[in-house]
Amino acid sequence: MRLITVVGARPNFIKVGPLIPALRDAGHEADLVHTGQHYDAIMSDVFFSDLAIPEPRWYLDVGSGTHAVQTGVAMMRLEELLADERPDALIVVGDVNSTLAGALAAAKLHIPVIHLEAGLRSWDMSMPEEVNRLVADQLSAMHLTPTPEAGENLLRENVDAERIHFVGNIMAESVLVHAPDARERGACRRFGLEPGGYVLATVHRPENTDHPERLAAVAGAFAHAPLPVLFPVHPRTRPLLAEHGVGVETPNIRLADPVGYLDMLSLQGDAAAIVTDSGGIQEEACMLGTPCVTVRRNTERGITVEVGANTLVPAEYDAILAALAGALDGPREWACPKRWDERVSQRIVEALEGGITPPNGCEG
Ligand code: UD1
Ligand code: UDP
Repeated sequence: MRLITVVGARPNFIKVGPLIPALRDAGHEADLVHTGQHYDAIMSDVFFSDLAIPEPRWYLDVGSGTHAVQTGVAMMRLEELLADERPDALIVVGDVNSTLAGALAAAKLHIPVIHLEAGLRSWDMSMPEEVNRLVADQLSAMHLTPTPEAGENLLRENVDAERIHFVGNIMAESVLVHAPDARERGACRRFGLEPGGYVLATVHRPENTDHPERLAAVAGAFAHAPLPVLFPVHPRTRPLLAEHGVGVETPNIRLADPVGYLDMLSLQGDAAAIVTDSGGIQEEACMLGTPCVTVRRNTERGITVEVGANTLVPAEYDAILAALAGALDGPREWACPKRWDERVSQRIVEALEGGITPPNGCEG
């Protein structure tokens, strides 16, 4: 099979780490196209080197912009590429604007779309990712799901059962492959911290960064947390902290630039607890045995809450500190969700080799 996979933003790179080698080992022609949605070396290149991901065959240099601009430019460039290349299918991963652009461009060219990480739902249409997921899933010919619940969500949205394949969580496979090496890095010591002696934090979702009072509540909780908080700041968050006048220059907060994937796994594994609004980090924390506090109104990664690895809290000072205290005192062991294992990429290969049913009407 000739398969093209679209990547664009940080969490996409991690998802294709195990996938591309598995496809190539099975004898398929598998290439990457990088839209350029994320472009700083620390948001993009570092993942290719840390995960030994093959060099993308095409770079589309889309860059930043409003949702419509970023998605539209990516669609235009992907359409041109896909019309020339005519792969057997286009694989899109996750829920970022590059995912949406790929799904739309391919569907209009009658190229089957395969969605990896299909069926996750926060039921919150104020999230750009929820819009992207809904559209990508409606356009997809094959849905590769991380949990049984994701499959049930798709069935409720009238997706044909035979198009849904419960392959498991590819982020979990990546953790299992890379955590042993990552743990030896002791990355926290580079920040003057000891294993077990700090909280790791990330914040980048618009529901937190675009609301000054929420961002201030989160920063206030970091400033008064019972352990130092190591905070690698996402590039969309840094200017917004300044714009909203939210102070983070206090002794308890150790500000840092974003870090590479292996360092991030090391930092997560050694943290006493994690506070985040990231989708991927909720899953990684669950795999690494580090209690997670998710500062959001909802989560599409509900399974991590169900197994006891994650606590969902609103962006309020007292609520965050109470949840963090609970996480620091609580258990560090829980059941691993089903099929969050090392065979996910293999199941994806098997699903693809089972045959891709073209979208309705595109059979001929
Ligand atoms: C995007 C995804 C989000 C995902 C996140 C992962 C969408 C709608 N959002 O959010 O789902 O969780 O990536 O990190 O697709 N910037 C840089 N350098 C970069 C990239 C971005 O400085 O390499 C800055 C720019 O100012 C840009 C801003 O970050 O405007 C936001 O980038 P963008 O890709 O639009 O969205 P994210 O917030 O990164
Ligand atoms: N990550 C990283 N360095 C950082 C922050 C995050 O390597 O400084 C990794 C993290 O371990 C996970 C992925 O980036 O694998 C999650 O991406 P992000 O939080 O940006 O997006 P989301 O998953 O919320 O869409």
